Parts: sequence; C-alpha cells; structure tokens
Amino acid sequence: MKTASRTRVAIVGSGSIGVDLMFKVKSTECLDLAFVVGRSPTSEGLKLARASNVETSSDGLNFLKENADAYDLVFDATSAAGHKVNNAFFEQAGKFVIDLTPAKLGRLCVPCINLPESDAAQNINLITCGGQASLPLAYALKQAVDEIEYIEVVSAIASRSAGMATRENINEYMTTTEFALAMFSGAKKTKAILNINPAEPGIQMQTTLYAHARYKDFGQVKARINAMVDKVREYVPGYQLVVQPMESQGRITVSLTVRGRGDYLPEFAGNLDIINCAAIAVATHQHAATQAATQAGVTQ
Ligand SMILES: NC(=O)c1ccc[n+]([C@@H]2O[C@H](COP(=O)([O-])OP(=O)(O)OC[C@H]3O[C@@H](n4cnc5c(N)ncnc54)[C@H](OP(=O)(O)O)[C@@H]3O)[C@@H](O)[C@H]2O)c1
Repeated sequence: MKTASRTRVAIVGSGSIGVDLMFKVKSTECLDLAFVVGRSPTSEGLKLARASNVETSSDGLNFLKENADAYDLVFDATSAAGHKVNNAFFEQAGKFVIDLTPAKLGRLCVPCINLPESDAAQNINLITCGGQASLPLAYALKQAVDEIEYIEVVSAIASRSAGMATRENINEYMTTTEFALAMFSGAKKTKAILNINPAEPGIQMQTTLYAHARYKDFGQVKARINAMVDKVREYVPGYQLVVQPMESQGRITVSLTVRGRGDYLPEFAGNLDIINCAAIAVATHQHAATQAATQAGVTQ
C-alpha cells in the first residue's frame, strides 16, 4: 500500500452493503473514497453515489483494472462468486482487499478478536453479518468454559436490507459462519441459520447464540461476555445484549440486537452496520499500520 496522509479506497458493489459502506467511508477522516464501482448503468446505488458527489463506474473489474493507480485498498461488496474473480486481479496488483462477501478466500477477521493479524494478509474476509455479531460472544465463551460441544447461531434481518447477492449467497453464509464459529470458539459442532424477514416496517437485526458447554463458573461466562460486548461497542455503537446470558443444565443462551446508524437504510438494518463498521475498523487499522511503517522507515 502506498502512503499518504489518507488512504485511497475503492468500493466495488453498489447494493445494500456497498452504499451503506460508502457513507461510512465518507465520514472516516483517514480514508479518501476514489470511486464506487458497479456493473449496471441503472444501479440505484451508483445514482446515490453520484448524488453524493462520488465518482462512479458501471464497468466493474475493467474500470478497477484501468484505474489501478487511483486506489490502494478495495472493499469488495459484490458477491462470493464476484469476489473470486475480482480477487485474482487484486492479488496480482498488490491491492489490500477487505472482502464483505462470504467467499472465505482471505484471512477471517473479527476486529475485537484478531485485528492485528490483518497486517500480514493481502485479503481480509469479514465472514458474514451473523458472524460479526455472534463470533465475539462465541470467542468470549471459549475463554470462560472448559469445552464447547455445540454452538448454534440464529440471526434475523429485514428483507429490505438483504440484496439479491445476500440471497444468492445463503449457502456461503451458512458454511462460512459455521466454519468461523468452529475456528473462533473451538466448538465441536456448529450451526448457523439466517432468517430474512419480509415484515414491514423492517425488523431490527437480532442474533441469538445457543451453546452446549462444560463449565464450572457461570459468573465467568457472564463476565467474559459482557466485557466482550463493551469491546464490540467501541466500533459498533449500536451493538447491545437484549437477553443476558442464561443457563440451564449446560445450555447457554444469549441474545443481542444491532441498531444501525441509519446511514443508508433506517436503524433496523444493523446487519449492514455490524459488518461495515468492522470493515472501517480494518481499513483504519491498515491506514495506521502503513503510516507507522513509513514513519519507522523515515527515522531509520
Ligand atoms: N445485506 C446484508 O445484510 C449483508 C451483510 C453482510 C454481508 N453481506 C454480503 O455482501 C454481499 C452484497 O450483499 P448485498 O445485500 O449488498 O447485495 P446486493 O444489494 O445485491 O449488492 C451487490 C451489488 O454488487 C453488484 N455486483 C455484483 N457483481 C458485481 C461485479 N462483478 N462487479 C461490480 N458489481 C457487482 C450488484 O450489481 P447489480 O445491481 O447489477 O446486481 C449489486 O449492486 C453479499 O455477498 C452478501 O452475502 C450482505
């Protein structure tokens, strides 16, 4: 990544995630948004970007190739299949990629758990919205118990906030979330379920984690989970427990909601915020790491 006082970024994908992310990038001091790139000239997202004085293109990867000198970091908000094609170029061109699709090509990252590990990677995968919501709690649980037999995570999101790519990526949503649950919690068996609810007005994003575990001190479980919630709230302010950890014969349940900032869709769409705030946290960290490396080079 080149160094500058701000990091030049591109967003590819002009749907629900890409547009919400555009507003978050625009309000992040250290990031300079070069353009939002889609694939359809009639994209509503690209129209919104132009109305916000952001340069756009509907030429997809071709545009990103032709203008590779204009950005150092790229957020991919297309689809799992789209990302696989795009990343072949990003990798070869040395671009740092933050992947918001469940393609699972890059290093899996949940900022409150393993943000510094992103330094060594070219591609950071942010798993899924249900993953970003539940994995901090699954990881906290791991610290507090002897063993986790089973973890199940059920998330509900408003239909209006889930674009066509989210619907097409339902299988990848499940497999990537389940893989990450096993990786970050050590659970022997994992299950992820996503409910896309068409009710209007849109329902608030909600995630419930249910686990079978062996533990001695449930007080530890509650303390670890509540401490982790505070860590997530540092970068996702609308993240909050709505059901405190409950236990019954080794079965633990805890439930949370994410209230969005309302940058694009109303506050119910916390599913956009939970992953987009994680994306901003990774990009901001990368910016700081690049600045620090340059500074170290200058003073040597
Ligand atoms: N919505 C959520 O709550 C959520 C949360 C976390 C992660 N995700 C993941 O984020 C991704 C996007 O989801 P979404 O809900 O934002 O879907 P979406 O509204 O359908 O957005 C995808 C956008 O990317 C564009 N696109 C697709 N392939 C492209 C390519 N190769 N080059 C340029 N543009 C391309 C699409 O263009 P067209 O309009 O022409 O189709 C569309 O505008 C999915 O992988 C999803 O699993 C979604």
